[in-house]
Amino acid sequence: MTTSIRIAVDPTDRLAAVPRRLFGTFVEHMGRCVYDGIHEPEHPTADADGFRADVLALVRELGATIVRYPGGNFVSGYRWEDGVGPRAQRPVRLDAAWHSTETNHVGLHEFAAWAVAAGLELMEAVNLGTRGVAEAADLLEYANHPGGTALSERRRRNGRDEPFGIRVWCLGNEMDGPWQIGHKTADEYGRLAAETARLMRFIDPSIELVAAGSSNHEMPTFGAWERTVLARTDGLVDHISVHAYYEETPGDAEGFLASAVGLDRYLREVAAIIDEVGARTPAGEPVGISVDEWNVWNQTRWNEVDKPRVLTGEWPVAPRLIEDDYTVTDAVVVGSLLITLLRHADRVTMANLAQLVNVIAPIRTEPGGPAWRQTTFFPFQLTAAEATGSVVLPRIDAPTTATRHGEAGLVDAVATVEGDRTSVFLVHRGLEDAAVVDLDLGAEVADAAALVVSAPEGGDRRTVNTADSQPVRPLDLRVERTGPTSIRVTLPPVAWARLTARTSA
Ligand code: AHR
Repeated sequence: MTTSIRIAVDPTDRLAAVPRRLFGTFVEHMGRCVYDGIHEPEHPTADADGFRADVLALVRELGATIVRYPGGNFVSGYRWEDGVGPRAQRPVRLDAAWHSTETNHVGLHEFAAWAVAAGLELMEAVNLGTRGVAEAADLLEYANHPGGTALSERRRRNGRDEPFGIRVWCLGNEMDGPWQIGHKTADEYGRLAAETARLMRFIDPSIELVAAGSSNHEMPTFGAWERTVLARTDGLVDHISVHAYYEETPGDAEGFLASAVGLDRYLREVAAIIDEVGARTPAGEPVGISVDEWNVWNQTRWNEVDKPRVLTGEWPVAPRLIEDDYTVTDAVVVGSLLITLLRHADRVTMANLAQLVNVIAPIRTEPGGPAWRQTTFFPFQLTAAEATGSVVLPRIDAPTTATRHGEAGLVDAVATVEGDRTSVFLVHRGLEDAAVVDLDLGAEVADAAALVVSAPEGGDRRTVNTADSQPVRPLDLRVERTGPTSIRVTLPPVAWARLTARTSA
């Protein structure tokens, strides 16, 4: 049985410009994201600094725009000074966040150079767990002050003459979480974030600051945390963070496929709190939402398998942590979460797929071996490449189903329009049948093409890409012309697709 869906795009009805920082990513000193991920000096493709060229090529292909660094939970115990200066003199430290040993072979200088090579803007997080105002200000002065002071001259002696010019700074990470090193109450964190922001702005008024919001929507303090933090930091921060991870639970594929409905509610609630508090940026705009960690993450496996293994008393360097193998369904959910982020382009200023390599990542590697694209690589890459110009919210006529996240449409979609190019990003949540989607693009269609990510021929929605075999990749999807402004595509079950069309004005 096939279901018929209608989608109408009015290209003149524009919500907001596409915030290109929506296609951000995240590199944490965790597991094998940095060491044995982007950095592996013994790998045949490694450059003089130890960074893998094959991984760098995949990162460039992914097309992300901004990268959050160096954590995550890691940052709450990190001393940034450990990662600068001659490598041989850098201390080896315990990383209590991930029960690992941190060699400090990669620090600010190496990572900033790698980010430039990868085409990524650097978004730096400061430690507000074990440290505070002074250390955050020192790092900013070290990184961004041109010269003539002890800290800026130290940077220059360490080989970087020009300032790094880092614009976006995160004021700590997930400080509401009891698992966080230096965990704080909303009041304690709000005060600390405000005073840190004040001093950082004195040092460099051009920066943008992100206050830490709740670690997830289910936190018992969600809402109250945002209200307190936003009130305390009013006029001092530009963004507040949202972190959101989703997983498939046994027997609830429908609920998992509706994860974006949960994200949609989360974003609407945070936006409403920003409005209720009247929280403004220094420029007088409403504070933006920085979804600076989002993804599919099998947290049950982390809690039951990885975590007990990590907490055995060993302190390994770069252990294998949360290296989820992503299925087709996971890729479809990632694509649908991107659709929802775009649907909130008027409030969401940034978003970071967490993480980039090996750790819940679109790119995986083996030491001395290959690097490959996980299934989730494709919806991210295809969206980042074509979502430009302005966001348009289409009118969607599709059946809905009740799920654990609320009523979910069988098909969801968002469009972007730039000049004569219209792109429509679509998700089909149905598990069994195909969906015939009739689209009216609101302008004469000159040509159109579509790509789909779904189960490969003969495979199922649980298919994954591995080091040895990568059966999941985007495939051409047939586009039928049904009228001057209208087209039809047939989406297989559990599918994400991108349609691109050239239209006449
Ligand atoms: O991305 C993995 C971890 O998830 C991050 O370190 C932390 O911020 C979040 O809980």
